[in-house]
Amino acid sequence: VTQLPSPADIAKRLEKQVIGQRIAVRELAVALAKKLGGLRTGNVLLIGSSGSGKTTLMRATERFLAQEPALAAASTLVRLHANVLGEEAESGRPGAAVLARLIERARERLGLQAAWEPVLERARHGIVFIDEVDKIRAHVGDRPNVAGIRAQEALLTLMENEAVPFDRPAWAGGGLESVDSSDLLFVCGGAFEGLYDAVYDRVTIGRDRGALKPTTTVEQGKVVERLRFSLRDWLRPEDLFAYGMTPQFFGRFDAVVLLEDLGEPELLKIFLETPDSALNAARSYFKSRGIEFAISPAAVRRIAKEAALQPRLGARALREVFRRVLRDFEYEPERYAKNGVLTLEEAEVEAALGATRGG
Ligand SMILES: Nc1ncnc2c1ncn2[C@@H]1O[C@H](COP(=O)(O)OP(=O)(O)O)[C@@H](O)[C@H]1O
Ligand SMILES: [Mg+2]
Repeated sequence: VTQLPSPADIAKRLEKQVIGQRIAVRELAVALAKKLGGLRTGNVLLIGSSGSGKTTLMRATERFLAQEPALAAASTLVRLHANVLGEEAESGRPGAAVLARLIERARERLGLQAAWEPVLERARHGIVFIDEVDKIRAHVGDRPNVAGIRAQEALLTLMENEAVPFDRPAWAGGGLESVDSSDLLFVCGGAFEGLYDAVYDRVTIGRDRGALKPTTTVEQGKVVERLRFSLRDWLRPEDLFAYGMTPQFFGRFDAVVLLEDLGEPELLKIFLETPDSALNAARSYFKSRGIEFAISPAAVRRIAKEAALQPRLGARALREVFRRVLRDFEYEPERYAKNGVLTLEEAEVEAALGATRGG
């Protein structure tokens, strides 16, 4: 038996793909280490703005578990979009969609000749990533969202039940199975757009008006009062209920982890160091045209700085900015390359951004 990875080992691996987000990475690393050791562990809810790395973290975990044969053998993981649950909730048994996928995945791992029992055994110890969980709100404003309610119920069924009715697939002979799903680990993530503003309003002008006290600082010789707001300090379960997560559903999460908004230094690192970065994509493209692509550190900093101006997009802004910068270069790379090398300097970034600003 190979040694199981420690939380620190796991975090180190995840950090190759996920920049920043230390708290979320650590939380997930501990949960995975427990899970791989065959222990039960509480469900995790990840909340972070769009483009902060929620899906990236889930994918990194998926890759990490798939890459090493020992870990792949010890884990069954599925990642699905919460909307799928909403759609499938209409038909069939609650939770069946998730179980069916886990079983499919376990069967892929064990081989088609594997019997039903071992497949089921693996599936019910699986890990379930639900992305965009904020899309299954029980209500949106005052209007109930039936698909969301059903989807939350379906998940709840799996999160708390030791006897979930499930129709055995044809290959397993059909018939009704009662599945103990209490060993599943759920990691759900969502942007919960609007939550930040809702909580800010609550503690400044709403129900808890005045709770957020201005801090007084001296700036350039003047006394300035500022409201320093961080969702982490003020988020309460009631805010998530108001958003549309039912108390029963929310109650099944042991940890709620808030991801950080990414700043310029993180954006720079993402651009330069992550395998799926826009920079690597550009390198591949130019290489396919027989041209080596190079970029100066100052040009990279300029791109990160521009991306940081669009906090709503998170790291997605890097792609948006870089696309604008590269537009002409991608069209006719030969024209800009010297001796087979195309080098992007800060001045060219500046010029490209100036030319495309506002349109
Ligand atoms: N913390 C991060 N570390 C590395 N890359 C990130 C990070 N956050 C976002 N990205 C990059 O930005 C893009 C969007 O990130 P994603 O994880 O899909 O965001 P979301 O939080 O909305 O799920 C991806 O291309 C990803 O590579
Ligand atoms: Mg995402």
